[in-house]
Amino acid sequence: MAVIEINGGVRLSGEAVIHGAKNSALPMLAACAAVQGCCRLENCPALTDVNAAVGILRYIGCRTEQCGTAVCTDASELSRFDIPEHLMREMRSSISFLGAVLARFGRAEISLPGGCELGARPVDIHLSALEKMGAAVQERHGIISCRCNGRMKGAAITLSFPSVGATENIMTAAATAEGTTIINNAAREPEITDLGNFLTCCGARISGCGSSTIIIDGVERLHGCTYTIMPDRIEAATYMAAAAITGGKVLLRQVVPEHIQPVTSVLEKMGCRIHCTESGLLVDAPRRLRPAGTVRTMPYPGFPTDAQAIIMAVTCVAEGTSVFVENIFDSRFKHVGELCRLGARITTEGRAAVVEGAERLTGASVTATDLRGAAALAVAGLVAEGTTTLSGLNHLDRGYENLEEGLAALGASVIRR
Ligand code: UD1
Repeated sequence: MAVIEINGGVRLSGEAVIHGAKNSALPMLAACAAVQGCCRLENCPALTDVNAAVGILRYIGCRTEQCGTAVCTDASELSRFDIPEHLMREMRSSISFLGAVLARFGRAEISLPGGCELGARPVDIHLSALEKMGAAVQERHGIISCRCNGRMKGAAITLSFPSVGATENIMTAAATAEGTTIINNAAREPEITDLGNFLTCCGARISGCGSSTIIIDGVERLHGCTYTIMPDRIEAATYMAAAAITGGKVLLRQVVPEHIQPVTSVLEKMGCRIHCTESGLLVDAPRRLRPAGTVRTMPYPGFPTDAQAIIMAVTCVAEGTSVFVENIFDSRFKHVGELCRLGARITTEGRAAVVEGAERLTGASVTATDLRGAAALAVAGLVAEGTTTLSGLNHLDRGYENLEEGLAALGASVIRR
């Protein structure tokens, strides 16, 4: 079993280059199934979740090829509209294939994604939207079957919550639907805009991405294109946290500062100086951090739930008390117990976690149970005295390309064994 060993205590300095965004790459790869032609996605991160998405594309008959950091797809001829359970289990966000496959075949059958390490993750918002667009949906024996007579139909859809995945599924299905689709209360995350730009590059007619109302005028078909995936804002936040917790000074290259503004605000409140330079975003952290106040996770442009665990790790060594309120997922504090093994003082009550900053953390064996929890433990390990041994790396590898190498390049003592 692979582990990462971290010997804490080094102030990080240097440059980190941020990879392409996982949460853009995944819905884009799914959307490639709706494109009758070849797509080339540049700046695609090398992640197990990306491999899982490519595995699904191959299963349904799409030709794919890895060319350096690009993934090329040719979905001119697809052969299957079902996604079996073993592929769905590899990655919950395979639900994002539903809209694309339905648009292409007028039929889709996928195994229900079920719950995950973040708690129950229902797909009701996805399904009721697709129903509004003309799909007949049946759920039986853990399989969701959708069927549509001819093309999907444009519709006015108001989401009960601005779900990122549902917004993406609707956008992809609506791109080739008959007529106009209006999504009200749409998610506004930067990944939505990135997907919208990709689909536009493929000939879709979409406006309003990044706002709460997205309008899609369906076109007959999508054509192939070459598109460069935007930088990963959560990977950027992770390196910012690594700089902050070690009192370091790190320049992040290939970031969109605006995308990480909610995280920047919190780290500035904690005493970090963060500014844009010509070459990137410079994070300069003090020796001892102030507490973060109250951090509430919210849909974008609020503080991202995906950065909650990571910034919580940083507050573990701040001088005072910080509070985190998790508003997006119902079970997203699984990292807390493991942070406490490193000496963190955290108590949770329902959706809130209270962190009393400690003078120091001490190395221990810890196990990640989810992707961002894994990153949080790696960040905490950077200041923990002695050795922290992190296992559960399958979670880390879902969303980080060579995190340990990136940290080691900044001077950290980190090695994968
Ligand atoms: C995406 C991101 C994930 C991020 C999350 C919130 C990808 C691949 N993943 O996940 O990293 O943490 O956005 O920013 O982009 N919900 C329902 N019914 C639904 C759909 C969602 O109740 O049909 C609930 C979920 O259970 C959750 C909340 O809405 O509590 C947010 O989910 P959603 O925005 O859909 O997240 P994902 O798209 O799954």
